[in-house]
Amino acid sequence: MLPCFHFCISPLFCFCCLLILPLGLLCPSVCTCLDYHTIDCRDQGLPSLPNLFPLDIRKLLAANNHIQSIPGDLFLFYADLVYLDLRNNSLTSLEEGTFSTSTRLVFLDLSYNNLTQLDAGIFKSAEKLIKLSLGNNNLSEVHEDAFENLESLQVLELNDNNLQSLSISALESLPSLRTIRLEGNPWICDCEFANLFFWIDENSNKIQKGVEEIQCSLEERKVFLHELSDISFSECKFTLSLTDFLIIIFSGVAVSIAAIFSSFFLATTVHCFHRCAPSKDEDEDEDDD
Ligand SMILES: *[C@@H]1O[C@H](CO)[C@@H](O)[C@H](O)[C@H]1NC(C)=O
Ligand SMILES: *[C@@H]1O[C@H](CO)[C@@H](O)[C@H](O)[C@H]1NC(C)=O
Ligand SMILES: *[C@@H]1O[C@H](CO)[C@@H](O)[C@H](O)[C@H]1NC(C)=O
Repeated sequence: MLPCFHFCISPLFCFCCLLILPLGLLCPSVCTCLDYHTIDCRDQGLPSLPNLFPLDIRKLLAANNHIQSIPGDLFLFYADLVYLDLRNNSLTSLEEGTFSTSTRLVFLDLSYNNLTQLDAGIFKSAEKLIKLSLGNNNLSEVHEDAFENLESLQVLELNDNNLQSLSISALESLPSLRTIRLEGNPWICDCEFANLFFWIDENSNKIQKGVEEIQCSLEERKVFLHELSDISFSECKFTLSLTDFLIIIFSGVAVSIAAIFSSFFLATTVHCFHRCAPSKDEDEDEDDD
């Protein structure tokens, strides 16, 4: 330490000293610095992320706090971050550009927050991301380009949110996807859902909790996906909702019944005329007699 203090007379050397400061001095007081690259700030009731960490931090654990936002420049300073755990905080939105320099991020846990929407390209630069946990939020809107560029993503958790529909383009943009969770959402089984239904059917091996855990509502009633089949959505090729479909079936049936009744009525009338006319003749015949 002594030579260092000596050099500190010059501002340049002082800066050098700062860079080689012992770990403890840059570790935020509320956190535990487990090693040079891992900082644990969990369960501290923090309202925001502490703003001074060693610059080469790789693993940041900040679950179970009350953090309301991810600083927009977090990945600008801590570009080596590989693992970010913000589970069970109070995040309500993700600022555009937050992940624009997160090129090394592999694991991101944002579950148990209050996120309501995911915008296009929000994770765009996180090309190395392998696991993205967004379960137990309040997501109702996921843009079809929300997962753009996530070429390495293998695990995606969207369970227990507020999703009524989801564009399959969002899922089709994930070439490495192996596991997905979609259960616990108020899916509506209309024709918009049909595409997702077919996607789930084709990718059922990727549904972690199994297709039988996913429910959707059909006119106030909740049905499990495995109770539905392709046929349930077969009419959706004409982009009709199931209600429209039911109306069409109903009107079809009504028209057929009406047709049957009217032909029956016509037949009866014709028959009647037919019967009435000869009877007149017979009367005349009888009169003749
Ligand atoms: C969330 O964190 C709070 C402390 O902030 C804790 O009491 C609670 O059990 C945690 N909930 C979950 C689901 O982890
Ligand atoms: C999420 O928001 C709801 C209502 O807006 C609030 O009651 C709840 O405490 C929030 N949850 C968290 C974890 O901040
Ligand atoms: C979920 O978000 C909606 C708005 O999209 C809001 O009205 C509702 O209070 C939120 N619920 C919770 C539990 O945060």
